[in-house]
This record gives sequence, structure tokens and C-alpha cells, in this order.
Amino acid sequence: MIEVRNIRKRFGGVEAVSSLSFAVKGGEIFGIVGPDGAGKSTLLRLMAGILLPDDGGIEIAGVNVRRNPFIIKENLAYMPQRFGLYEDLTVEENIRFFGRLFNVPYREISARMVRLYEFSRLEPFKDRLAGKLSGGMKQKLGLACCLVHSPGLILLDEPTNGVDPVSRREFWKILYDLLGEGVTIVVSTAYLDEAERCNRVALMYNGAFAALGTPSEIKSSVKKTMLEIEAADVWNAEAALRRAGGFGAVIREGAMLRVFAADAAGAERRIRALLKKARVPLRAISRREPTLENCFVEIMEEEKA
Ligand SMILES: Nc1ncnc2c1ncn2[C@@H]1O[C@H](COP(=O)(O)OP(=O)(O)OP(=O)(O)O)[C@@H](O)[C@H]1O
Ligand SMILES: [Mg+2]
Repeated sequence: MIEVRNIRKRFGGVEAVSSLSFAVKGGEIFGIVGPDGAGKSTLLRLMAGILLPDDGGIEIAGVNVRRNPFIIKENLAYMPQRFGLYEDLTVEENIRFFGRLFNVPYREISARMVRLYEFSRLEPFKDRLAGKLSGGMKQKLGLACCLVHSPGLILLDEPTNGVDPVSRREFWKILYDLLGEGVTIVVSTAYLDEAERCNRVALMYNGAFAALGTPSEIKSSVKKTMLEIEAADVWNAEAALRRAGGFGAVIREGAMLRVFAADAAGAERRIRALLKKARVPLRAISRREPTLENCFVEIMEEEKA
């Protein structure tokens, strides 16, 4: 569906996207995860044809984005990180406005609206001003506006950022419904639980992909073992291990510490010795299956090294 070949985009001295190549399959939900400034928005803008790459090219369904921007736009929806709803128009007026913007005939907009209301459950609020909606509802309306021309591909830039957990779940339910209709979705997110829901995920860091695959492929690509440590004083335990160095990522999760190590048995012995020296009583130490989030932290740690 999407073929990205060696694209690069610089802003002054910053390489926001550095020589990236990958493909998105038709009918999949492809996630882009990464910290602030990783280049997620820049990549999505390049894919939407809003920004031109310095190098390389993108094809969507066999059509070159740079050469045929208008063909591309007919079948594509792009929801930017800050979507421009008209706050002084109602929910319904916003949908109609975007419908006209995409040249959707009036009667078709009305028919489409029924479906969009079904998806978004915004019908009870159709006469409410967009400016008076909750954050989650605004994002759902933004998505509804993007979908008014029935695109086959949607690009969403952190659509659930700052949205409460219940609304986030609802939003993802909509995405799965769309997927069921054969729509292809590319979504960026800072939430790891959302990354886990994608068919494939790219971990973006410094303009490049540090990892790419299904969530379980990414987990099994991390060859180190994760140890979970329960110590009397988690702060001092963490400080002692960080000071000593020589481990992979050291992650604090509530009252527990999680540490990646290439040689689990050796690391366990070292941890016992280091904590003893720091006078931090060790309560338990055990091997644990890392979460996707733990793996991302470890992969980024390896990138930094
Ligand atoms: N129009 C621009 N002009 C100059 N620099 C830019 C521009 N857009 C992005 N950048 C820089 O490119 C890098 C990547 O930015 P980008 O917005 O793509 O990251 P992001 O992953 O979307 O971050 P966030 O999670 O904060 O939205 C950053 O260093 C940013 O400052
Ligand atoms: Mg962004």
C-alpha cells in the first residue's frame, strides 16, 4: 500500500528523518512510536505529501506522492497532531464543512454522516459547538471529519494524545472498525499500550527506526534477559546499579527495579554484591518476561551506546 524509499528530511542542522525505507501493507494498522522530537510528525507529513523530502520517494498504491499529489489526496486522510476543527461551528457543521472541502456531494455527506455518527457516537452532540466538546470527543470529531470522503488510507498523528483512558479505548475501537472495513491505518503514538495493539510497530528515534516488526517480533529481538529486583530501598538500589554501570536499561516500575543483562546469572551475582555494598537489603530477584515498553527502553539504551 505504501512504499517509502530512502526518504530524508532536514531542517537546518536537524535531520528530522534520516534515510528511511519501509513498507506498509494494505489493511494493516502500522504504529509509529517514539519520544518527543523523534521525527514522527515529519514522517507522517512526508507520507501525506504535505512536506516534500530532500531525498528519496514515497509511493501510495503505486502512485508517486510527489508527482501526483491530487490523486493521492482523494484516497487519503491525514489528521495532524493539532487538527483544525472550527470551534464556532457545531459538530454537524464541521463534518459538512470538511465534506465540501473534499468535494463530497451534499446528499452523499448526509448518507456518510449516519455511518460516521455510528462510529463516533457523536450524534447526541451534533448540535453542540465543537469548541464545547471534551478532548476525547474533539479527537473523534476530527477523525470523523477526516473520514467524510471515505479514504482507503488514514494517517493519524498522535490522535489520542492527552485523551482520557476510556475515550482512548473508544477511539481504538473506531480504528478497529475501520480496519474491518479494509482501511489501512498509520498512527503515531506516545502510548505503549497502543503500540501493542498495532499489527506492526516502528520504534522511531533520532529520525530513524530503531526497531520494526510485530510487537512479539520486537520483544523477541531483545536478546538480553530481564531481571526484576525487589529491594528495601528502591531509590538507593537504582542509584547503586546505575553508578556501577555495565547493565542494559535500568527501569524503575513502582517499587520494583527491572534490569536488562546479557548474562543473567552473572548479573544476578553482581547485583547481590552491589546492593550488599550499598547496604540495601535485597528482598527478591527473579527473571521476568519484559513488556513491549521495557523492550523499547532497552532498544533505545542500545541505540545510545
Ligand atoms: N518545520 C520545522 N522547522 C524546523 N525544525 C523542525 C520542523 N519540524 C520539525 N522540526 C524538527 O525536527 C525534529 C523532529 O520533529 P517532529 O515534530 O517530526 O518530531 P515528533 O516525533 O513528531 O515529536 P513530538 O512527539 O513532540 O510530536 C525535531 O528536532 C524538530 O524540532
Ligand atoms: Mg509530532
